[in-house]
Amino acid sequence: MAETIEIALSVNGQNRRLRVRTDQRLVDLLRGDLRLTGTKEGCGKGECGACTVILDGEAVNSCLMLAYQADGTAVQTIEGLAVGDRLHPLQDAFVEHGAVQCGICIPGMIMSAKAHIDLTGQAIPSDQARSVLAGNLCRCTGYSKILAAVTRAAAPPAPPATAPDAVAPPYFRPRSLEEALEILIQRTGEVRPIAGGTDVLVQAKDGKTSAEALFDITAVPELRGIEDLGDHIRIGAATTHTEILGSRLLQKYCPALPMACAYVGGPQIRNRGTIGGNLAHGSPAADTVPPLYAADAKVEVVSVSDRREVVISDFFTGPWQTVLAPDELIVAVKIPKRGNVRGIFLRLGQRQGHAIAKVSIAVALVFRDGKPDWARVALGAVAPTVIRAPDTERALLTGGYEGLRRAMEAVRNEVRPADDLRSTREYRREMAAVLLERAVRRLADA
Ligand code: FES
Ligand code: FES
Repeated sequence: MAETIEIALSVNGQNRRLRVRTDQRLVDLLRGDLRLTGTKEGCGKGECGACTVILDGEAVNSCLMLAYQADGTAVQTIEGLAVGDRLHPLQDAFVEHGAVQCGICIPGMIMSAKAHIDLTGQAIPSDQARSVLAGNLCRCTGYSKILAAVTRAAAPPAPPATAPDAVAPPYFRPRSLEEALEILIQRTGEVRPIAGGTDVLVQAKDGKTSAEALFDITAVPELRGIEDLGDHIRIGAATTHTEILGSRLLQKYCPALPMACAYVGGPQIRNRGTIGGNLAHGSPAADTVPPLYAADAKVEVVSVSDRREVVISDFFTGPWQTVLAPDELIVAVKIPKRGNVRGIFLRLGQRQGHAIAKVSIAVALVFRDGKPDWARVALGAVAPTVIRAPDTERALLTGGYEGLRRAMEAVRNEVRPADDLRSTREYRREMAAVLLERAVRRLADA
C-alpha cells in the first residue's frame, strides 16, 4: 500500500497543501482529488497529449508525472485560462475557427499552444505550429482548424507563476546527492530513481514496474545543468532534452546531440525526459546515445562508496542492460571538447515524430584541407546495443567519393540488425548505408 505525503504547489494561481499517494500521478490528483476534469487522460503513456498541463511555464504530460514531483511548482490547467466570463485569446480562436471538435484532445492542444505563446506573446508562426503541437493527437483529423486557431491567437507574455516552497519529504524527493545515494543504499533493490518518468511511468502503466517503488531525483542540484569545464562539457544526468536542444555549447561541440534530442517525443516529453534516464533505460534505439558514442563521451556514476567514469561504449552490456549497480546513480555525462567538429544525427522511423527509430546514425567529422582528419560513426537500432563502426570510420578517413563508397560497404558489414516488428534485417542494413551517405554529404557541404 502506497504511503501518503504532503506536498505544496500552486494550482491555477492558488497555493495548495495537499496529501497525495506516492504512486499517484499528477493527472489523477488533478482530475480525481481536485475535480479539474478539463485535463483528460487518453493513452496514459505520453502519446496523445490529452493530459497536457503547464508546469512552471512548460507543457508537460500529467500522466507521466507522479503528483509529488509537482511539489514546489506552479501548475496551470485549462480551467485556469479564462478570467471570469472572458476566455483566453486561444480559447476564443478555437471557438472562432470551429476547432473544438471534441473535449478530449482540445484542452491539451490549447495548453501546449499556451505554453508557447506565454513565452513570446505572439501568435505561433505557421511553420512552427506543427512542432508546437507535435505531442498532441487529434484522432478525428481536424488538424486544419486547430492549426488555423493556434496561428492566429496571441496574448501578452505571461509573467513566471509563483510557487510555494517544496515540502515533500527528502525520503521521496532528496535535495542533495548524499540524500539520494543514502536512499539507494538503504533500500537497494526495493526502490529505483525516477526523473522525467517518460519511460518508468509507461512501464508502471503496463504493470511492468511499481509506481510505489520510486523516488524522485530531479530536485538534486548536482544532477542539473550543462557546464563548460574547460576541456570538456558536463551534462547533469537530470538535464532535460529541451535544455540540451537549446544549449549553444552543445550545438558547437556536439551538434549531433541537440539534433537527436529534437526527435525525442513531442515538447511535453522533451520538457521532462532526461539524458540520464535515456541512458539508464538502455534501449538500443535511444536517440541520444549514438551522438554520445560519436563524441567519445563518458558516463559519471556514483554510489555511497565509489565514483567512476565509464566510457560510453562500455556502459551498455546488452539490450536494456547497463553496468549500473543497484546502489549506483548516473550523475553526469562528460563530452570532450573538440575544435571545428561537424556533427549530424539522422534516423528513420515509422514516421517523423513519436516513433522509435528503425535505424539511426550519428556522424562526427573534423576536416583538414577538405578531407576528413578525424571520424566517428555510431549507429542505433542495428545491434543489441548502440555500436561504433571503426572500419567505416577508417574508410571515411581515406577521403573523397571512393572513401565514402568504401565506408558504405563497411557499414553494411559492421551492423548486426535483427528482424523485428518495426523492420527487417535487410532493410536496416541497407538504410544504415543510405543514412551514412546522407550524413557525410551534408557534413561535407556544411
Ligand atoms: Fe495521453 Fe497523457 S494521456 S499523453
Ligand atoms: Fe478530438 Fe479530433 S479534436 S479527435
